Amino acid sequence: MKIIFETPKLILRQFTEADAPLILSLNSDPEVVKYLHEPTLKTVEHAAQIINDIILPQYKNNLGRWAIHTKDGMNFIGWCGLKYRPELDEIDLGYRLMQKAWGKGFATEAAQHSLDYGFEKLNLKMITGRAHIENIPSIKVLEKIGMNFIGEGIVDDCPVRTYTKANPNI
Ligand SMILES: CC(C)(COP(=O)(O)OP(=O)(O)OC[C@H]1O[C@@H](n2cnc3c(N)ncnc32)[C@H](O)[C@@H]1OP(=O)(O)O)[C@@H](O)C(=O)NCCC(=O)NCCS
Repeated sequence: MKIIFETPKLILRQFTEADAPLILSLNSDPEVVKYLHEPTLKTVEHAAQIINDIILPQYKNNLGRWAIHTKDGMNFIGWCGLKYRPELDEIDLGYRLMQKAWGKGFATEAAQHSLDYGFEKLNLKMITGRAHIENIPSIKVLEKIGMNFIGEGIVDDCPVRTYTKANPNI
């Protein structure tokens, strides 16, 4: 298990092929994918395909979506992390938590430390965050971690608010 970093309450680690049941439990909840441009997941085989085709290839250059576990009990609660999007030539900050973990500040804590990791350890110049215009919790996370509102627009066929933050150390 490759741990990426720890926060006061959380451990973020790379996913492996063995995590398909965790991805299925996350992405099979219609409330979790409500504002995302994807259907609910139905099978563990499809979850394995997502891990192999989408998540694992992102781990080049120490980027990627990382599994989040609470230190208190080591429960899996979702993922957070930094993904390179070649079609936009940007590093995207994303997060997705299971409903049981919402409203406890975990997304903000994971997102803040992912941003810091990207700037301090990976020396990224700029990080972008996007949220559906009606996804208030996600917008609040981006604003609470100090990202700057750039504007609204259509990305991946969705109306989104875009936020960016430049590396303060460069
Ligand atoms: C987005 C998401 C990760 C946020 O998780 P969370 O656990 O609620 O995040 P936090 O607890 O760190 O903070 C959320 C903030 O939104 C607020 N919030 C939550 N629901 C809200 C609502 N319906 N209306 C207004 N504010 C709301 C919370 O009060 C909190 O703000 P506060 O600290 O000022 O009180 C979670 O809702 C999620 O996983 N959603 C599904 C996947 C998703 O949409 N991912 C983002 C894609 S862009």
